[in-house]
Amino acid sequence: MSLETLSIKAQSIEKSASMPRTLWLCGTLQVAVLAILWSLGLPQPELILSALLSMLVILAIAIQLESYYRTQSNVANLLQLTHRLIHRQDEQITRQQDEQILALLQQNSAQRRQDYRQIESLFSVFALLKLSHPLPSMREWAISPDMAALIIALVHERKPKRVVEVSSGISTLMVAYCLQQIGEGSVVSLEHEAQFADASREQVGRHGLQNIAKVIHAPLVPVTIADQTWQWYDIAPHQAILHPIDLLIIDGPPGDLQHQSRYPALPQLFDALSADAMVVLDDGDRADEQAIVARWQQEFPGIQVQRIANEKGAFVLHVRKVS
Ligand SMILES: C[S@@+](CC[C@H](N)C(=O)[O-])C[C@H]1O[C@@H](n2cnc3c(N)ncnc32)[C@H](O)[C@@H]1O
Repeated sequence: MSLETLSIKAQSIEKSASMPRTLWLCGTLQVAVLAILWSLGLPQPELILSALLSMLVILAIAIQLESYYRTQSNVANLLQLTHRLIHRQDEQITRQQDEQILALLQQNSAQRRQDYRQIESLFSVFALLKLSHPLPSMREWAISPDMAALIIALVHERKPKRVVEVSSGISTLMVAYCLQQIGEGSVVSLEHEAQFADASREQVGRHGLQNIAKVIHAPLVPVTIADQTWQWYDIAPHQAILHPIDLLIIDGPPGDLQHQSRYPALPQLFDALSADAMVVLDDGDRADEQAIVARWQQEFPGIQVQRIANEKGAFVLHVRKVS
């Protein structure tokens, strides 16, 4: 409610409430004046003239008095209504603040639950892998610990001979450590940024996994699939080492590079997949990744899809090729 509306409302309240008081006061005054004039014993013309004049004066007094009462009453009402309005606004602000605090508390508690889950996964990672060097930080640009645990579980379960990764990093180390434990298999990691290919290669070396993991710098080039063009890894010079793929891990190129950035991975590498291959796609909570999987399901019928509710969300696809 605006102040203008308030003042209109205030003016209408008790408009006539002061009238009886004014009438009573002025009426009494008029009677008193008339009585005094009468008692003076004035001749009739002067008496009538004086009576009329006194009436005019008392009428003016009545108008002044009434206007004074009304102004007083309006101001009081306006103040009262303004006070109520401010009080209501205060209540509203307090309610909004309460809701914000509650949302922050819920967010904080969800974050603490998530952090605990990642710590649990880290314990699994450290228990399952015999690390020879400290790991780089996880989360943010890298995979989260629960994704690392998922990859370790898959590699141990499937024992892939060849793993191909689309983007390098922590996942390269996870896969290579598992393959080292299993005693066979290798991982090829495609990395579009030369500096990050160097960084990942350096990590692979520090962990003593260079015989198992190979990081390839594959710059992004235009790739056209069904009349649509994407920036994707230049794999042409590396075809020989990309066949057959038992496990394909897709975590690049970055999602903000283009619409459905990781879509080309399956069309480009489907023929290279072995007859019974697994595909893992990170960042499954993003709308783009969900649309990519839906599109793959249409274009490659028969793939089984499992959605994983980990920190960033993931998809695990089972591709069985019928000959
Ligand atoms: C989602 S990340 C890949 C994460 C990787 N799969 C892992 O497990 O750590 C995608 C891209 O981020 C880039 N990147 C950003 N910061 C990086 C860093 N500090 N080290 C290595 N790569 C980085 C690389 O180009 C990488 O291909």
